[in-house]
Amino acid sequence: MNTSNPYQDDRGNNDRSITREGGGDLPYPGKGGAAVPAPGGPFLAAENMTGGYGAADILHDCTLTVEKGQIAVIVGPNGAGKSTAMKAVFGMLNLRGGHVKLDGEDITALTPQDRVAKGMGFVPQTNNVFPSMSVEENLEMGAFIRKDDFRSTMEQVFDLFPILKDKRRQPAGELSGGQRQQVAVGRALMTQPKLLMLDEPTAGVSPIVMDELFDRIIEVARTGISILMVEQNARQALEIADRGYVLVQGANRYTDTGAALLADPEVRRTFLGG
Ligand SMILES: Nc1ncnc2c1ncn2[C@@H]1O[C@H](COP(=O)(O)OP(=O)(O)OP(=O)(O)O)[C@@H](O)[C@H]1O
Ligand SMILES: [Mg+2]
Repeated sequence: MNTSNPYQDDRGNNDRSITREGGGDLPYPGKGGAAVPAPGGPFLAAENMTGGYGAADILHDCTLTVEKGQIAVIVGPNGAGKSTAMKAVFGMLNLRGGHVKLDGEDITALTPQDRVAKGMGFVPQTNNVFPSMSVEENLEMGAFIRKDDFRSTMEQVFDLFPILKDKRRQPAGELSGGQRQQVAVGRALMTQPKLLMLDEPTAGVSPIVMDELFDRIIEVARTGISILMVEQNARQALEIADRGYVLVQGANRYTDTGAALLADPEVRRTFLGG
């Protein structure tokens, strides 16, 4: 095992260098091991979100929570509002109701950029890399809010996704779909987020590449970063989910552990193809 890589520490996070400076004053005891719920509630609490793009609401009382270092997965049919819910959490949608709290702090009124400064990283479903820029330039763009030296973070991204180091001078648009998704995830990691939000990170990739990417996402979570992820590959994603959400028509239909949802005959029949 490469112990210099915090992502590859399979005993939890003993090296928090990838996480945000100042994370040390969070009220979590111990290093690594199981995730610990914050005393004031979950790390991300996006609760009772109601809103949409115009007059009609898309989200109806939608609630999504993620504990520190855990993986939450949102599944549901096309058009259910999964991406809309992600945008709402990230501040790209005006909510008519509900709130978003990060580590106990109400951030509902903040812009997306201010949310990045608070520790959110977002990989959108589409257009998530700059195709004409090199891999390295994409990662540099990811670090846009940082004033400090981010080279060690870039090295950590390269440790997580070694192929990106080999291809760092290549335009991101020339990479395979799976590699482009690695660039997108790497770009979001450049701000050292505490919550990483991924909208369909495995869209259009082969099952092998999907498994690879899920393994890397698990490694990221083990460094203490919380993950909120939308996935079309519902069954496989729920297998790695501490918490799963089935969204239908902008509302929570089922919420449980990933394992419980996978075992639920009704969920299987209706949403997982039997
Ligand atoms: N920018 C927009 N303006 C107006 N309506 C939108 C916009 N984006 C999405 N919608 C509508 O909001 C609803 C939810 O869309 P959303 O993209 O959130 O679904 P989704 O669950 O992410 O679907 P998919 O699985 O296809 O990615 C749909 O009816 C869609 O047409
Ligand atoms: Mg979507």
